Amino acid sequence: MRITVPRHRDLPRAKTSLKGWGVAAGVALVTGAMMVLAPAADAATTLGASAAQSGRYFGTAVPNSKLGDSTYSTILDREFNMITPENEMKWDATEPSQNSFSFGAADAIVAHATAHGQRMRGHTLAWYQQQPGWVQNLSGTALRNAMINHINQVMAHYKGKIYAWDVVNEAYADGTGGGRRDSNLQRTGNDWIEVAFRTARAADPAAKLCYNDYNTDGVNAKSTGVYNMVQDFKARGVPIDCVGFQSHITNSIPSDYQANLQRFANLGVDVQITELDVSGSNQAAVYGQITQACMNVTRCTGITTWGIRDSDSWRSGENPLLFDASGNKKAAYTSVLNALNAAGPGPSSSPSTGTSTSPSPSPSVSPSSQPSQSPPPSGGCTAAVSSVNQWNTGFTATIRVTAGSAGVNAWTVTANLPSGATITNSWNATPSGTSGTVRFTNLSYNGHIDGGAYTEFGFQANGNASGLTVSCSGS
Ligand code: XIL
Repeated sequence: MRITVPRHRDLPRAKTSLKGWGVAAGVALVTGAMMVLAPAADAATTLGASAAQSGRYFGTAVPNSKLGDSTYSTILDREFNMITPENEMKWDATEPSQNSFSFGAADAIVAHATAHGQRMRGHTLAWYQQQPGWVQNLSGTALRNAMINHINQVMAHYKGKIYAWDVVNEAYADGTGGGRRDSNLQRTGNDWIEVAFRTARAADPAAKLCYNDYNTDGVNAKSTGVYNMVQDFKARGVPIDCVGFQSHITNSIPSDYQANLQRFANLGVDVQITELDVSGSNQAAVYGQITQACMNVTRCTGITTWGIRDSDSWRSGENPLLFDASGNKKAAYTSVLNALNAAGPGPSSSPSTGTSTSPSPSPSVSPSSQPSQSPPPSGGCTAAVSSVNQWNTGFTATIRVTAGSAGVNAWTVTANLPSGATITNSWNATPSGTSGTVRFTNLSYNGHIDGGAYTEFGFQANGNASGLTVSCSGS
């Protein structure tokens, strides 16, 4: 199958005018021929199952101390399929004295997740808070080396068990400047964040690597500072896969909440809502708006609330969560569930990491919702340009690889780049070259795609996307 993106005259010129264009193009490319979305399947009745219908997860922060509370663990295991340790993977917990590691509490949470088919977000490797005293007393090269050793040791211990790591947490300053926060880590040199990410990639290549922060929930100076860093990392090949938006919300969300998620996704990273809690009298509606925003952004891969019951919350007295102190579902729960159930196709249905402890999310597009034309041959696959973001001098393209009915274990997408287009960066696939006919082969974690499911990869290039074509072969 060969798909051609629109000719040049159809391409919007300025990046700022592109909002939604990529998605619209993707839909047009598929619908013209065929797509009929499956009628909304039976609505799922738990947060995790509802999120999985669109290939997403629904998670919560978990303290080890609550796992023995049966009211708590019953809700946890019924509703949530992703777990973030609330404090147990922080530096003060895992390395209380230098090069002496303490993994017991975090291991207990991982063991719980493994036993219940839940995946893990690792939180967090490098942060200015919750550092052990010995780290607080370090500076310069000694601190830099301690950070590198910490990342290596902790990630090695959990290798293969973590879906995504918050490699760096809260490195940007609040206020209007859009710059870095002062901290002992920042004072080791501005490159500390990229050193952390490069170290992390080498330590566990299968884990997604996230930057995580708060007050980045709309387009503002702080989120733009983070945006510029991610754009720079992508341009220079510094490994980064995702950005976490903590979303500790008071009363309401900025009107550009979704647009902010989308602008990060357009850089070629996943976005995740990582620590959601919402105070205020409009709580149920706001929870619904946030969930809807994530569902509307293809690369929003999941939502985590920062606790289960109001009584579990770190925001004591604000009752910001989805269950009341007795474990009853609140109105906010229903808002979230309804928005999850109404979602269309979401992110890749292939596991995005090599985690071995959890089932794959359900396909985001079920086989029955695939094209009504003849299905691709067994073992085959199709490729389509699912979005393009063009600016004056370059573009990013996201390519969707959909398996035929038999599924595939390996795939190669042949991309014919328009003349003058040169690839500068790519993610989730390995390119054979940078211009002309470029073959992209799967990485180890995304070669397998179930029948009718899909995965996505992308690249950034100089030049113009007009005339880009892609085709797929699989085995
Ligand atoms: C909080 C925990 O919930 C508390 O138990 C702890 O006392 C302080 O940290 N941003 C983060 C989280 O990234 O790690 C924080 O968690 C909340 C703010």
